[in-house]
Amino acid sequence: MNILMSTSECFPFSKTGGLADVVPALSEALLKIGIRADVFMPFYSFIDRSEFSKVMDLRFETLGTLEKCAVYECERNKVRYFALEHPYFSERSGIYGESSFLPYRDNLLRYGVFSKATALFSANGPEQYSIVHLHDWTTSLVPLFLKTIKSRAKTVFTIHNLAYQGVFSPLDAISIGTPLNRNYILDGKINLIKGAILESDYVTTVSPTYAEEIQTEELGCSLDKYLRERKDSLAGIINGIDLDVWNPETDPMIYKNYSVEELDDKKKNKKALQKDLGLEKRDDIPLIGMISRLASQKGFEELLFEKKPSALERLLKRGDVQFAIIGSGDERYEKELISLETKYSNLKVIIGYSDKSSHRIEAASDFFLMPSIYEPCGLNQLYSERYGTLPIAHRTGGLKDTIIDADENSNSLTGFLFDEVTSDEIVKKTERAINFYKERERMKRAIKNAMSSDFSWNNSALEYKKIYNLLTKSLRRS
Ligand code: ADP
Ligand code: GLC
Repeated sequence: MNILMSTSECFPFSKTGGLADVVPALSEALLKIGIRADVFMPFYSFIDRSEFSKVMDLRFETLGTLEKCAVYECERNKVRYFALEHPYFSERSGIYGESSFLPYRDNLLRYGVFSKATALFSANGPEQYSIVHLHDWTTSLVPLFLKTIKSRAKTVFTIHNLAYQGVFSPLDAISIGTPLNRNYILDGKINLIKGAILESDYVTTVSPTYAEEIQTEELGCSLDKYLRERKDSLAGIINGIDLDVWNPETDPMIYKNYSVEELDDKKKNKKALQKDLGLEKRDDIPLIGMISRLASQKGFEELLFEKKPSALERLLKRGDVQFAIIGSGDERYEKELISLETKYSNLKVIIGYSDKSSHRIEAASDFFLMPSIYEPCGLNQLYSERYGTLPIAHRTGGLKDTIIDADENSNSLTGFLFDEVTSDEIVKKTERAINFYKERERMKRAIKNAMSSDFSWNNSALEYKKIYNLLTKSLRRS
């Protein structure tokens, strides 16, 4: 059984969020349990070409235009990565747009071409794939194209975030040159994710709780009805993390490596980050980290604007806590964070994207704040736990599934969960954590619990394997 993963982003080649981390790590985990999973992705202009070599040309038509594509290949950790070269990707500087607020106007066409190429490559490339595993709205048209070329491959569609649906004007449909059936239409508009939900053989999402939540009106983003229709072939499988990339014992980006037995070395990371960022060097008060897209999904409205003074400002005013925040996105949030930084010396903000800073913040912080309104899985709470940095988070989606709250079980707690994202709740739970920090022995035990949690991909890879087996069995029967 060969699997082809199709994704619009993939670390370390391209990344805007967690999806990029998930695809390569899952592919490696599958290989370890005997399933070969290759990755198909766009060849963006900023990807280093030196490690790739050409495999084949791919030519097809969209609406009378001959699309001249080529596929390049490279191998990393035994996983094969195929990159699709086309001017839609190689002649643009961004992934989805020049910035997160300026998506390219022809994204339907760009990812339409990518999806068609995925389908053709899966059938006519150097390998024949029995399963094409699709990730998020950008790959939604693959099931349709597979049907047009009469491929027998089965499809698994993984929803990483139901809110990003690929909605376009019906007038754009003509650009992709293949008629869209009504599964791809919602309220008179093209809705790609709806099509993929209805057209794929199996649908998964990235945590058991989110799989339940998206079937409700509250978090179903107008698609709950269709997800309920698919409930017999819908599964929530929790993401794992890449234990080699996120390993405090070997991480080359942090100041000082440490393990659960050498927690004093974790403190050295705190000291070094405080020095680097210009925070007061103090260990008597906790340092709270945040690494995030600055988007409303992540609770920044409630953290920064819901009340005056805001939750963050109320916490900063106390003076007995420090914050280190890295993120980029919505300008309103960027501006407010910078303005608070000028007022409070216990807040340091980095606007931008940096892997190194994110690893350092994970290693140095005592707590990690994640007030996400909803969170399909969330990776940062997993990285945090592995780095002994206790998450303070909203009880939702994957956060609920991966954090053991202080109130649930005071012996095995790995973090703090709050029930509602409001300014007051954020302050209340964070204050609880600030007090907990003073209880040195309990804090140490919680850090040990968190660091000993198993977030490897192995179990989840086995869950995916069950689905692949089920689908290939039906393939053999048909
Ligand atoms: P989402 O995919 O919704 O943004 P996740 O928690 O699944 O949320 O994944 C976010 C990923 O992006 C994590 O790997 C996180 O470390 C990374 N990340 C987000 N913002 C930044 C940033 N400004 N700098 C570095 N890494 C970031
Ligand atoms: C999405 C979700 C996030 C999840 C990630 C990887 O971006 O917002 O919760 O962890 O995908 O599955």
